[in-house]
Amino acid sequence: MSTAICPGSFDPITVGHLSIIRRAASIFDNVVVCIMFNSTKISPMFTIEEKLDMACKAVADIPNVTVDTFSGLLVEYAKRYDKPVIVKGLRAASDFEYEFQMNLINKRLNPDIDTMFLPASEKYTFLSSSVVRELAHYGANLKGLVPDELIPFIEEKAKQWR
Ligand code: PNS
Repeated sequence: MSTAICPGSFDPITVGHLSIIRRAASIFDNVVVCIMFNSTKISPMFTIEEKLDMACKAVADIPNVTVDTFSGLLVEYAKRYDKPVIVKGLRAASDFEYEFQMNLINKRLNPDIDTMFLPASEKYTFLSSSVVRELAHYGANLKGLVPDELIPFIEEKAKQWR
C-alpha cells in the first residue's frame, strides 16, 4: 500500500493545497495530510486544533485522505508508515529552492524517505496561506481561495485578529 505524506503548516488550508492533496490521492493508495510546526512561522493565525478541524472538513469528500498532526521532525513522523513519500506542491522557482533544501535535509536525516514535487496548477500559483490571512485581515472576499465551508470561520477569526 503506497502512502504519501502531505506536510505543511496549513495556516489555513487553501484550495491550492487541496488541489495538490487531490492529485496525490489519485496517485497513492493512502494520503496523510500532516499539520506540522514550521519554526520560521512563529505566530500562526490558527491553533493546531483549528487547523485540524479545517483540514478535516476540506478533505472530507476524498476517501483515501486522512488528517493528522505532529510536533516533531517530519522524518520521525514518516517512520509510522511503510516507505512513505513526502509530497509537496511547487508554485514557483522560489518554492523549489526552499523545498529542495528541505528535501536534502530530510534525506540527510533519513535517506530512505523520498520527496515528490507536484507543480501547482497555473490557476493557484498566486495563492498561499499568507495571502489568505492578509485578505481575511482586510475583510476581502475569500471565495475561490479556501473551501467555501471554511470561509465563515476564517472571517470570524480574522475579526478577532483585527
Ligand atoms: O507549509 P509549510 O510551512 O511550508 O510547511 C513546512 C513544514 C511544516 C512541512 C516544515 O517546516 C516541516 O517539515 N516541519 C517539521 C520539522 C521538520 O522536520 N523540519 C525539517 C528539517 S529542518
